[in-house]
Amino acid sequence: MIIVYMSIISNCNESAITHAASSLVNGNLVSFPTETVYGLGANATNIDAISRIYAVKGRPLGHPLIVHISSIELLSEWAREIPEYAIKLAKSFWPGPMTLILPRTSLAQNFITGSQDNVGIRVPNHPIALKLLKKFEFLGGKGIAAPSANRFGAVSPTSALDVQSELGHFLAKNDLILDGGNCQVGIESTIIDCTKKIPFILRPGVITSDLVQEKTEVKMGTNFQESFEPNVRIPGNFDSHYSPKAQVILHGQPKSGDGYIALSKIITPKGTIRLASPRDNNEFAREIYRALRMADKKGLSRVFVVSPNMDGIGLAINDRLKKSARHSPGIII
Ligand code: TXA
Ligand code: MG
Repeated sequence: MIIVYMSIISNCNESAITHAASSLVNGNLVSFPTETVYGLGANATNIDAISRIYAVKGRPLGHPLIVHISSIELLSEWAREIPEYAIKLAKSFWPGPMTLILPRTSLAQNFITGSQDNVGIRVPNHPIALKLLKKFEFLGGKGIAAPSANRFGAVSPTSALDVQSELGHFLAKNDLILDGGNCQVGIESTIIDCTKKIPFILRPGVITSDLVQEKTEVKMGTNFQESFEPNVRIPGNFDSHYSPKAQVILHGQPKSGDGYIALSKIITPKGTIRLASPRDNNEFAREIYRALRMADKKGLSRVFVVSPNMDGIGLAINDRLKKSARHSPGIII
């Protein structure tokens, strides 16, 4: 028998938000929607609450967490020596699907940064996330640390039910899941390293280099791989990442009985099970994780994905699919 202890709150009205914010202040975990994926939130200055995030996710210690704040005004609480270009990025894209890596202040302790001297900060663009952050800050909180609300190495959740099926067994009685519907972007935020003379994208997302240049005229490092140094942690560079239990196949021929994911203009090969037919790259991003989860729900052993082109969010989709296929099958429990 499955016993689920924590509550899902589907009507996120003011009293529900107040309840969730106080719950965070009291050291509990609150999963909340953002425009990218659902996060598993905890008070970013409470070591006990943060260690529960690692336990619930089954995540190795020392893997840094993104701190979420309600506005750019609070950036200097967490980050120092903020370059001019980072301010431009924040002003142009926050609230939004972008995380900035900056030198940390003493507020960002080792248990948040993985003992690195920098910290990841994001202002998410979702009404429930923003209301929760504002209320939490009103109650004295400084920021909410939130990784994607999945077990380590698995597919990020894009709905409250995904969070429940992924983490329900690991959450406790006083933990909460706030239901804000399906995430609009569908894959994780663009992570930009702002610790060097020019910014580099560490994890691609819907905010692309071209978009940054177009909107801000900030000059971006050309190849995000170039900014990697041997001792810098690279998002997603683990034995298993973004992986369902089904094996993800990107090349060759699909076999009868495979799950099949491709743009709607591509017809379904005979004998395969269509899991998604997005019309464009943005819809592809919105649906890909749900479709990969669906493969597992249906008990499929393989899922064949026809990757979209690299336009816009296509680069980020290809990044996730490659990692998912490279390590697949390989969910770590
Ligand atoms: O869209 C998102 O970014 C979601 C939502 C919930 O905000 N969050 C998310 O967090 O994807 P997470 O922990 O699943 O992925 C964040 C990645 C991790 O690979 C982590 O190593 C990297 O960002 N990261 C966080 N802080 C970092 C830092 N200070 N330096 C380098 N990488 C960092
Ligand atoms: Mg994640």
